[in-house]
Amino acid sequence: MIKKAVIPAAGYGTRSLPITKVIPKEMFPICGKPAIHYVVEEAVASGIEEILIVISRTKNLIMDYFDHSLELEAFLERVNKTHLLKKTKVPNVHIQYVRQSHAKGLGDAISLAKPFTGDEAFAVLLPDDIFLGTPALSELMEVHEKHHSNVIAVKEVAAEHLKDYGVIKGRLTVDGVYDISDIVEKPVSNPPSNLAVTGRYIFTSSIYRKLNDLHPGTGGEIQLTDAIRDVLGSEKCLARISSGERFDIGKEEEYIKLIQSINQA
Ligand code: G1P
Repeated sequence: MIKKAVIPAAGYGTRSLPITKVIPKEMFPICGKPAIHYVVEEAVASGIEEILIVISRTKNLIMDYFDHSLELEAFLERVNKTHLLKKTKVPNVHIQYVRQSHAKGLGDAISLAKPFTGDEAFAVLLPDDIFLGTPALSELMEVHEKHHSNVIAVKEVAAEHLKDYGVIKGRLTVDGVYDISDIVEKPVSNPPSNLAVTGRYIFTSSIYRKLNDLHPGTGGEIQLTDAIRDVLGSEKCLARISSGERFDIGKEEEYIKLIQSINQA
């Protein structure tokens, strides 16, 4: 059973400038809660008991948000507004933090989690991607419990958008999951399929050895996708198509659609 999850939240959020100069994209409000609240909820709903959030110097708001608001709670009790206490609650899960000192990429951020996960298999949730419906991570958990392998969430994406994603090549197996034979980060041409990686992963600890050996890839960053490709030589990596609807909050139209979908639910 996977009990630990890593949420990398150290990026600059350049797609959402200028607001991300001062507000981390993980703190963008979605119906009164910050985006990362939904991601932590998904992790807890999938059985995660301990979370490591990788932050950077400008992301202290995230730590503040998940901290207890003792003064606020005392104030609400004093002024007889105890009905609002439930609104101060955050998901009941142990959260710790590590700082990435240099923005060297997603792969580098994940490598900082090694002391937290040790040799256990662990989950990764990218907080730009928010799912409604069945928690995408819980679907990966089912596959991991059966195969004990690395597992990645994917979705079919229109051809013109594949250049924005990690894209897998895989063979559909009798279990309805894909056995991955190749993966490419943001292919500029000839994507290996229309199955794009959508920000939920389960890894065995082998990923760390591959991350340590990497040179900077696409965009001059240490790419998680490159480490996954290196893992394929020695370990099985499966992909499952998520059934839930996915929204990328770095894209304004999807951010707005997400808020509308929650309001209509
Ligand atoms: C990251 C990953 C990419 C994945 C995407 C999903 O890219 O590197 O493989 O498809 O997340 O959101 P980013 O969007 O951080 O550039």
